[in-house]
Amino acid sequence: MSLQSFFDPKSVAIVGASRQKGKVGYEILTNLVAGGYEGKIFPINPKADSIEGIKCYPDLVSVGEVPDLVIIIVPAPLVPAVMDECVKVRVKSVIIITAGFKEVGPEGKKLEEEVVRIARRGGIRFIGPNCLGVISPPHKLNASFGGDLPVPGGIGYVSQSGALLAAILDLANANGIGFSSLVSIGNKADIDELDIIQAFGEQRDTRVVAGYLESITDGDVFVREAEQISDHKPILLMKSGGTEAGARAASSHTGSLAGGEVAYESAFRRAGVIRCDSIKEQFDFAQAFANQPLPEGASVAVITNAGGPGIMAADAIEERGLTFAKLSDDTKKKLAEALPPAANVQNPVDVLGDALADRYEFALGVVLDDPNVNSAIVLLTPQAMTQAQETAEAIVKIAGTKKGKPILACFLGARKVEEGVRLLRRGNIPQYDSPESAVATLKVMVDHVRWRNRPKRVVRLFSVNRRKVESIVERHLRQGILDIGEAEAKEIIEAYGFATPKGSIAATAEQAANIANQLGYPVVLKIWSPDILHKSDVGGVRVGIRSEQEVKDAFDLMMYRIPKKRPDAHILGVLVQEMVRSGKEVIIGMHRDPHFGPLMMFGMGGIMVEVLKDVSFYLAPLTAEEAKQMLLNTKTYHILKGVRGQEGVDIEAIAEGLQRVSQLVTEFPEIKEMDINPFVVGAPGTTPIAVDARISLEKK
Ligand code: COA
Repeated sequence: MSLQSFFDPKSVAIVGASRQKGKVGYEILTNLVAGGYEGKIFPINPKADSIEGIKCYPDLVSVGEVPDLVIIIVPAPLVPAVMDECVKVRVKSVIIITAGFKEVGPEGKKLEEEVVRIARRGGIRFIGPNCLGVISPPHKLNASFGGDLPVPGGIGYVSQSGALLAAILDLANANGIGFSSLVSIGNKADIDELDIIQAFGEQRDTRVVAGYLESITDGDVFVREAEQISDHKPILLMKSGGTEAGARAASSHTGSLAGGEVAYESAFRRAGVIRCDSIKEQFDFAQAFANQPLPEGASVAVITNAGGPGIMAADAIEERGLTFAKLSDDTKKKLAEALPPAANVQNPVDVLGDALADRYEFALGVVLDDPNVNSAIVLLTPQAMTQAQETAEAIVKIAGTKKGKPILACFLGARKVEEGVRLLRRGNIPQYDSPESAVATLKVMVDHVRWRNRPKRVVRLFSVNRRKVESIVERHLRQGILDIGEAEAKEIIEAYGFATPKGSIAATAEQAANIANQLGYPVVLKIWSPDILHKSDVGGVRVGIRSEQEVKDAFDLMMYRIPKKRPDAHILGVLVQEMVRSGKEVIIGMHRDPHFGPLMMFGMGGIMVEVLKDVSFYLAPLTAEEAKQMLLNTKTYHILKGVRGQEGVDIEAIAEGLQRVSQLVTEFPEIKEMDINPFVVGAPGTTPIAVDARISLEKK
């Protein structure tokens, strides 16, 4: 069902419209009227004949027609009865403003469930409960008690916090920022963030989707749908409270490093969602996306009437990895011919402190014509003869004639530029309070364009022994064993194409020595117990053992010390394993996030992984490019490539390992967490070895 009746209803009924100023039911009615809503309004209040001169009805049935939208503002215990009435009258769209549901505890939760049941029965879609309402300036609809109706614009805003939406509204109204819609989703008992984001995706008025979220209801659907929307409309989200998984007991390195925040980061990256850290940043970005074209490339030209801010902009451009546009000879010639001799005709173009509006207009026009320029920032400081208003008008005029390249303004100061800033905003030129903010915005736009031009995602499928893994996994689940022991964990990864070191279990020192003699020295000894997950923590790993005697001594020591440290552990023996000699140790891991599914991890391996935390995460399934990008996102990458004359290792082999694990965890949703640590990689062309592997399962 389309949600258009929430934004553009032909008639609105307000159940609980109050006669009393200051009450929510009064404020919503008067806001709707004050906003100039042009449809029919039906206040419902059994105790009133009229409110503010508008005829009231005792109930919905008495209205005599089906309202397009019903707003409910009666106390919580009365809401189910009103919903029943909505079903009876065949209402399809409802906003429940009332609080006192899920957010207050089990009683409220029950009440909310009842409301959901009634709505489902009647085919009603509803926003709320516990919300601020809906605002849609292009339709003059202010069905909220959040504040005045803002001017129409291209930003669609969805908020999980009503209070934050009220603050945003106030800020936007003070600065003349326009919106297509603002929606407070409250407890999102029916319509959730994704429904609204999808509705924004379809709305012609909405050019950019923005929002504040505390949680996402259905993670993997969100990623899929948001990715499609981001391809034609940018999504800018502020997200808080994502660390719920932080305190979770994790049995793998990956699990302990992959908090909820990491999953959100990865999900947003996959979906092309731009994450914003503050309201200011979100508005900075949103204004540009809503009102300016996307830049075709990263090169930025700066026009300024003061040297200092020009340098600040230049520094920011370099720091952010954008390109400082190299103006063409033709551009420089044109500028030099018309500007005073003291003007700088290189980028940043300095039109000098005495520049009037016409100099800005000329310089901006010439610079935008330069094919080497993809975007322009216009800086202005209010000096004695500066014409802030006329300059703003000139920028708006140029933007109207030279379309296709984004123009961002940064008028510095306060009172002297106030009117100019207002004109800029009215003319759809985004204004920034510092050169850095303007540059940061351009950077986000350039990155977004890159994301849109991303190669099609092709996930390589390796030929593997899936049957083998199936039987191991099934057997463990049947027996209720969720942690797969090292030997079988290795069988699993071998089935997916990993090479592992040779070795066998010894029950006595004598057996250990025999195995070592067969393998050849040096060897590694590892304690063998299903109860000991982190062997090195209990002294359960000895590497580089070079003789039979050393093997026997190490065996005896482990068998003497470890039962004392871990009397609970059932010790089966000691694994004697060939020693993997050369190469760098990395970790490949996966943690299954409850919202977004398998989250792959890569980082420097061995025992240092949790100390150094130099890791990167991506959602599975991984493409080859994404696997490589995971490597590039770590500092470890530089070490792996080879520093100071050291030979690099086989980067491709690591990327392939990541893709193989990605395939394994995608094909087996029962795998909850896994680490291959260390994964030892040598020079290009050599076979990497998965020295140790941990896999844990969960019942599906
Ligand atoms: N149908 C229509 N109107 C009804 C009614 C019914 N079945 N039952 C009562 N009313 C009328 C009342 O007569 C009253 O009108 P009046 O003021 O003219 O007498 C009006 O509805 C409001 O009812 P009242 O009992 O006075 O409630 P209230 O205004 O004190 O509180 C809420 C109602 C919904 C505002 C309140 O329960 C609430 O939830 N407040 C919090 C809202 C909130 O914060 N939401 C989240 C924001 S993020």
